Amino acid sequence: MDLGLYGKKALVCGASQGLGFACAQALVLEGVEVVIAARTLGPLKAACDALREQQNMWAQKSGVHALGVHLECVDVTTAEGRAQIKAHHPEVDILVTNAGGPPSGDFRNWQRADWLAALDANMLSPIELIKSYVDQMMDKGFGRIVNITSSAVKSPLDALGLSNGARAGLTGFVAGLARQTVAKGVTINNLLPGTFETDRLRSNFTHQAQVRGLPYDQVIKERLSKHPAQRFGQPSELGAACAFLCGVHSGYINGQNLLLDGGSFLGS
Ligand SMILES: NC(=O)c1ccc[n+]([C@@H]2O[C@H](COP(=O)([O-])OP(=O)(O)OC[C@H]3O[C@@H](n4cnc5c(N)ncnc54)[C@H](OP(=O)(O)O)[C@@H]3O)[C@@H](O)[C@H]2O)c1
Repeated sequence: MDLGLYGKKALVCGASQGLGFACAQALVLEGVEVVIAARTLGPLKAACDALREQQNMWAQKSGVHALGVHLECVDVTTAEGRAQIKAHHPEVDILVTNAGGPPSGDFRNWQRADWLAALDANMLSPIELIKSYVDQMMDKGFGRIVNITSSAVKSPLDALGLSNGARAGLTGFVAGLARQTVAKGVTINNLLPGTFETDRLRSNFTHQAQVRGLPYDQVIKERLSKHPAQRFGQPSELGAACAFLCGVHSGYINGQNLLLDGGSFLGS
């Protein structure tokens, strides 16, 4: 299916690896000009080079001009980082918000500063980014905003209280805003990943294995035995869902939480 995205421009945050990178990759393969943002220059440059190569191959095959991949080495949770992106890229058609998730733990040990950091990263930064771009999208009559959140929005885990709280706040906010933007061609949806095979997931399981004194493979095996799909999600699967939501055919999908968890959540 042609998603009709050639010529569009996207900003994908948290995109040097993992789920953000997969979204950027899926968009590049639809002919989108992409800006990727992350904090660490080395991996960001490597990601940018990989995406450029894929975009050039795609353009050659499609017989069109490659529109480019740009990088922004910034912390998207800071006002300075977001201002830098906006200064270099004042207009985009697609915004994918994403940043690292907050740490797990016991809420009794969290101080106000921990809560503010989680809210900044997983609620207020996406809202500020949306604020930067949504009016310009509505003026143009087309826009797609996709927030990468978490399955914890539907199925909260007690140890992930910071994530549960911050992401629930973002979900509530965008549910209201999405109803104000759709008539102007701008949709806002959330992708809720379950367990996807990324560095973050691998480091979570390494930590669990250390705490429990078990081999890494055993912890993985245990987890998969309880999973209906008996496998983890591949980032490219989430990337493809993101590209679909961004496509021209998805203008009537709005204000939704799309759970990608292989059926782990016991609900429909
Ligand atoms: N993987 C899963 O199974 C899963 C499940 C549920 C929810 N999630 C959530 O989905 C999001 C992405 O997860 P992931 O697994 O793709 O993580 P990941 O593999 O650790 O990748 C995170 C990406 O975001 C960048 N990043 C992190 N903080 C940033 C910041 N403040 N500003 C700019 N870039 C930032 C990282 O680069 P730098 O560190 O260089 O900035 C990296 O490119 C996280 O919020 C995570 O909690 C993931």
